[in-house]
Amino acid sequence: MSLADRAEVVELHFEETYPLRERVLWPGRPDLAALSCDAQGKHFGLRLPSETRDELVSVVSVFASDDGREAQFRKFATASEYQGQGLGSKLLLHIIEEAKHRGVQRLWCDARTAQAHFYEKRGMRAVEGGATFLKSGVEYIRMEMLLCVGTALFLDGWAGLIFRAMSEPQCSVQCLVLFIPVCLQYHIMSQAAYAYY
Ligand SMILES: CC(C)(COP(=O)(O)OP(=O)(O)OC[C@H]1O[C@@H](n2cnc3c(N)ncnc32)[C@H](O)[C@@H]1OP(=O)(O)O)[C@@H](O)C(=O)NCCC(=O)NCCS
Repeated sequence: MSLADRAEVVELHFEETYPLRERVLWPGRPDLAALSCDAQGKHFGLRLPSETRDELVSVVSVFASDDGREAQFRKFATASEYQGQGLGSKLLLHIIEEAKHRGVQRLWCDARTAQAHFYEKRGMRAVEGGATFLKSGVEYIRMEMLLCVGTALFLDGWAGLIFRAMSEPQCSVQCLVLFIPVCLQYHIMSQAAYAYY
Protein backbone atom coordinates (compact mmCIF):
# COMPACT_ATOMS: atom_id res chain seq x y z
CA MET A 1 0.00 0.00 0.00
CA SER A 2 1.41 3.42 -0.95
CA LEU A 3 2.00 6.18 1.57
CA ALA A 4 -0.88 8.21 0.11
CA ASP A 5 -3.21 5.18 0.42
CA ARG A 6 -2.23 4.75 4.06
CA ALA A 7 -2.79 8.43 4.93
CA GLU A 8 -6.21 9.35 6.33
CA VAL A 9 -7.92 12.65 5.63
CA VAL A 10 -8.82 14.37 8.90
CA GLU A 11 -10.48 17.65 9.82
CA LEU A 12 -8.36 19.74 12.17
CA HIS A 13 -8.62 22.61 14.59
CA PHE A 14 -6.68 25.47 13.01
CA GLU A 15 -4.02 25.48 15.72
CA GLU A 16 -3.10 21.90 14.80
CA THR A 17 -1.95 23.15 11.38
CA TYR A 18 0.50 25.69 12.78
CA PRO A 19 3.58 23.50 13.41
CA LEU A 20 3.57 22.12 9.85
CA ARG A 21 2.73 25.48 8.29
CA GLU A 22 5.63 27.11 10.09
CA ARG A 23 8.13 24.31 9.49
CA VAL A 24 7.41 23.97 5.76
CA LEU A 25 6.21 27.40 4.63
CA TRP A 26 7.61 29.97 7.03
CA PRO A 27 10.51 28.56 9.09
CA GLY A 28 11.13 30.79 12.10
CA ARG A 29 8.14 33.02 11.26
CA PRO A 30 5.21 31.89 13.42
CA ASP A 31 3.60 35.31 12.76
CA LEU A 32 3.30 34.42 9.05
CA ALA A 33 2.16 30.86 9.72
CA ALA A 34 -1.03 32.00 11.47
CA LEU A 35 -3.91 33.83 9.79
CA SER A 36 -6.28 36.24 11.52
CA CYS A 37 -9.18 34.56 9.69
CA ASP A 38 -8.24 31.02 10.75
CA ALA A 39 -11.27 30.62 13.01
CA GLN A 40 -13.54 31.15 9.95
CA GLY A 41 -11.88 28.44 7.85
CA LYS A 42 -12.06 24.70 7.55
CA HIS A 43 -8.81 22.88 8.06
CA PHE A 44 -7.84 19.51 6.67
CA GLY A 45 -4.86 17.28 7.01
CA LEU A 46 -3.45 13.85 6.24
CA ARG A 47 -2.53 11.68 9.17
CA LEU A 48 -0.30 8.65 8.90
CA PRO A 49 -1.46 6.00 11.36
CA SER A 50 1.30 4.48 13.42
CA GLU A 51 1.49 2.06 16.36
CA THR A 52 3.26 4.63 18.50
CA ARG A 53 1.96 8.05 17.45
CA ASP A 54 -0.07 9.16 14.43
CA GLU A 55 1.77 11.76 12.40
CA LEU A 56 0.28 14.79 10.68
CA VAL A 57 2.08 14.98 7.32
CA SER A 58 0.12 17.44 5.19
CA VAL A 59 -2.25 20.35 5.90
CA VAL A 60 -4.40 22.84 4.02
CA SER A 61 -6.99 25.43 5.04
CA VAL A 62 -10.09 26.47 3.09
CA PHE A 63 -11.96 29.77 3.38
CA ALA A 64 -15.36 30.19 1.74
CA SER A 65 -16.73 33.53 0.56
CA ASP A 66 -19.83 34.89 2.35
CA ASP A 67 -22.20 33.63 -0.37
CA GLY A 68 -20.45 30.23 -0.49
CA ARG A 69 -19.85 30.42 -4.24
CA GLU A 70 -16.11 30.75 -3.98
CA ALA A 71 -13.46 29.27 -1.75
CA GLN A 72 -9.79 30.02 -1.34
CA PHE A 73 -7.34 27.46 -0.05
CA ARG A 74 -4.26 28.63 1.82
CA LYS A 75 -1.25 27.38 3.76
CA PHE A 76 -0.93 24.11 1.87
CA ALA A 77 2.09 22.17 3.12
CA THR A 78 3.43 18.64 3.15
CA ALA A 79 6.24 17.78 5.56
CA SER A 80 9.49 18.03 3.56
CA GLU A 81 10.48 14.40 4.20
CA TYR A 82 7.16 13.20 2.72
CA GLN A 83 6.92 15.48 -0.32
CA GLY A 84 6.68 14.00 -3.81
CA GLN A 85 4.83 10.86 -2.69
CA GLY A 86 1.28 11.76 -3.65
CA LEU A 87 0.12 13.18 -0.32
CA GLY A 88 -0.46 16.74 -1.55
CA SER A 89 -2.40 15.43 -4.57
CA LYS A 90 -4.65 13.38 -2.29
CA LEU A 91 -5.35 16.34 -0.02
CA LEU A 92 -5.97 18.69 -2.95
CA LEU A 93 -8.41 16.20 -4.47
CA HIS A 94 -10.19 15.97 -1.14
CA ILE A 95 -10.77 19.72 -0.88
CA ILE A 96 -11.91 19.85 -4.53
CA GLU A 97 -14.52 17.14 -3.84
CA GLU A 98 -15.53 18.84 -0.59
CA ALA A 99 -15.92 22.17 -2.43
CA LYS A 100 -18.07 20.54 -5.16
CA HIS A 101 -20.20 18.90 -2.51
CA ARG A 102 -20.83 22.29 -0.89
CA GLY A 103 -21.79 23.89 -4.22
CA VAL A 104 -18.64 26.01 -4.55
CA GLN A 105 -18.30 27.22 -8.12
CA ARG A 106 -14.76 28.57 -8.04
CA LEU A 107 -11.84 27.28 -6.02
CA TRP A 108 -8.77 29.50 -6.02
CA CYS A 109 -5.44 30.11 -4.36
CA ASP A 110 -2.46 32.40 -4.41
CA ALA A 111 0.13 29.81 -5.36
CA ARG A 112 3.83 30.16 -4.85
CA THR A 113 5.07 30.53 -8.42
CA ALA A 114 7.55 27.73 -7.71
CA GLN A 115 4.58 25.36 -7.23
CA ALA A 116 2.41 26.61 -10.13
CA HIS A 117 3.16 23.50 -12.22
CA PHE A 118 1.85 21.29 -9.39
CA TYR A 119 -1.53 23.06 -9.53
CA GLU A 120 -1.60 23.26 -13.35
CA LYS A 121 -1.05 19.53 -13.60
CA ARG A 122 -4.04 19.06 -11.32
CA GLY A 123 -6.47 21.19 -13.31
CA MET A 124 -5.94 24.74 -12.06
CA ARG A 125 -5.25 27.70 -14.33
CA ALA A 126 -3.50 31.04 -13.79
CA VAL A 127 -5.83 34.06 -13.76
CA GLU A 128 -5.30 37.77 -14.47
CA GLY A 129 -3.02 36.95 -17.40
CA GLY A 130 -0.63 35.02 -15.17
CA ALA A 131 0.57 38.18 -13.41
CA THR A 132 2.82 37.46 -10.46
CA PHE A 133 3.12 39.43 -7.23
CA LEU A 134 5.20 39.44 -4.07
CA LYS A 135 4.02 38.78 -0.51
CA SER A 136 6.54 38.72 2.34
CA GLY A 137 9.35 38.31 -0.17
CA VAL A 138 7.84 35.27 -1.95
CA GLU A 139 6.53 35.37 -5.55
CA TYR A 140 2.93 34.25 -6.06
CA ILE A 141 0.51 33.72 -8.92
CA ARG A 142 -3.27 33.57 -8.58
CA MET A 143 -4.78 30.30 -9.81
CA GLU A 144 -8.30 28.97 -10.03
CA MET A 145 -10.44 25.98 -10.86
CA LEU A 146 -14.07 26.32 -12.01
CA LEU A 147 -16.14 23.52 -10.55
CA CYS A 148 -19.56 23.79 -12.24
CA VAL A 149 -18.31 22.53 -15.59
CA GLY A 150 -21.60 20.76 -16.33
CA THR A 151 -23.58 24.00 -16.29
CA ALA A 152 -20.99 25.80 -18.43
CA LEU A 153 -21.01 23.04 -21.05
CA PHE A 154 -24.80 22.96 -21.02
CA LEU A 155 -25.13 26.70 -21.62
CA ASP A 156 -22.32 26.76 -24.17
CA GLY A 157 -23.71 23.84 -26.17
CA TRP A 158 -27.30 25.03 -26.27
CA ALA A 159 -26.41 28.68 -26.83
CA GLY A 160 -24.53 27.62 -29.96
CA LEU A 161 -27.43 25.55 -31.26
CA ILE A 162 -30.01 28.28 -30.63
CA PHE A 163 -27.82 30.89 -32.33
CA ARG A 164 -27.52 28.66 -35.42
CA ALA A 165 -31.28 28.03 -35.52
CA MET A 166 -32.11 31.72 -35.26
CA SER A 167 -29.79 32.68 -38.07
CA GLU A 168 -31.57 30.35 -40.52
CA PRO A 169 -34.87 30.96 -42.43
CA GLN A 170 -37.06 28.38 -40.67
CA CYS A 171 -36.00 29.98 -37.43
CA SER A 172 -39.27 29.78 -35.48
CA VAL A 173 -39.88 26.06 -36.20
CA GLN A 174 -36.30 25.18 -35.30
CA CYS A 175 -36.45 27.23 -32.11
CA LEU A 176 -39.61 25.42 -31.06
CA VAL A 177 -38.03 22.04 -31.82
CA LEU A 178 -34.96 23.03 -29.79
CA PHE A 179 -36.85 24.67 -26.95
CA ILE A 180 -38.52 21.47 -25.75
CA PRO A 181 -35.32 19.40 -25.27
CA VAL A 182 -33.58 22.44 -23.73
CA CYS A 183 -36.32 22.70 -21.10
CA LEU A 184 -36.28 18.96 -20.51
CA GLN A 185 -32.53 18.85 -20.11
CA TYR A 186 -32.55 21.84 -17.76
CA HIS A 187 -35.28 20.25 -15.66
CA ILE A 188 -33.37 16.96 -15.39
CA MET A 189 -30.13 18.75 -14.50
CA SER A 190 -31.72 20.88 -11.79
CA GLN A 191 -33.32 17.79 -10.23
CA ALA A 192 -29.94 16.06 -10.28
CA ALA A 193 -28.28 19.11 -8.72
CA TYR A 194 -30.79 19.15 -5.85
CA ALA A 195 -30.27 15.45 -5.25
CA TYR A 196 -26.48 15.95 -5.18
CA TYR A 197 -26.34 18.88 -2.76
C1 LIG B 1 3.21 21.80 -2.92
C2 LIG B 1 3.09 20.65 -1.93
C3 LIG B 1 2.05 20.98 -0.87
C4 LIG B 1 2.68 19.39 -2.69
O1 LIG B 1 2.59 18.34 -1.77
P1 LIG B 1 3.25 16.90 -2.10
O2 LIG B 1 2.84 15.98 -1.01
O3 LIG B 1 4.70 17.07 -2.36
O4 LIG B 1 2.46 16.59 -3.45
P2 LIG B 1 2.54 15.29 -4.37
O5 LIG B 1 3.53 14.33 -3.84
O6 LIG B 1 1.17 14.82 -4.58
O7 LIG B 1 3.04 15.91 -5.73
C5 LIG B 1 4.35 16.35 -5.81
C6 LIG B 1 4.47 17.18 -7.03
O8 LIG B 1 4.98 18.45 -6.63
C7 LIG B 1 6.28 18.60 -7.17
N1 LIG B 1 7.08 19.10 -6.07
C8 LIG B 1 7.16 20.39 -5.77
N2 LIG B 1 7.99 20.59 -4.75
C9 LIG B 1 8.44 19.38 -4.38
C10 LIG B 1 9.34 18.93 -3.41
N3 LIG B 1 9.96 19.81 -2.59
N4 LIG B 1 9.54 17.59 -3.27
C11 LIG B 1 8.91 16.74 -4.09
N5 LIG B 1 8.05 17.12 -5.04
C12 LIG B 1 7.84 18.42 -5.21
C13 LIG B 1 6.71 17.27 -7.71
O9 LIG B 1 7.43 17.50 -8.89
C14 LIG B 1 5.39 16.58 -7.99
O10 LIG B 1 5.00 16.94 -9.27
P3 LIG B 1 4.25 15.98 -10.27
O11 LIG B 1 3.59 14.86 -9.53
O12 LIG B 1 3.25 16.92 -10.81
O13 LIG B 1 5.27 15.54 -11.22
C15 LIG B 1 4.45 20.35 -1.26
O14 LIG B 1 5.43 20.12 -2.24
C16 LIG B 1 4.94 21.44 -0.31
O15 LIG B 1 4.56 21.47 0.85
N6 LIG B 1 5.81 22.32 -0.81
C17 LIG B 1 6.42 23.36 0.03
C18 LIG B 1 5.40 24.36 0.54
C19 LIG B 1 4.65 25.03 -0.57
O16 LIG B 1 5.25 25.62 -1.44
N7 LIG B 1 3.33 24.93 -0.50
C20 LIG B 1 2.45 25.43 -1.52
C21 LIG B 1 2.22 26.86 -1.33
S1 LIG B 1 1.29 27.48 -2.71
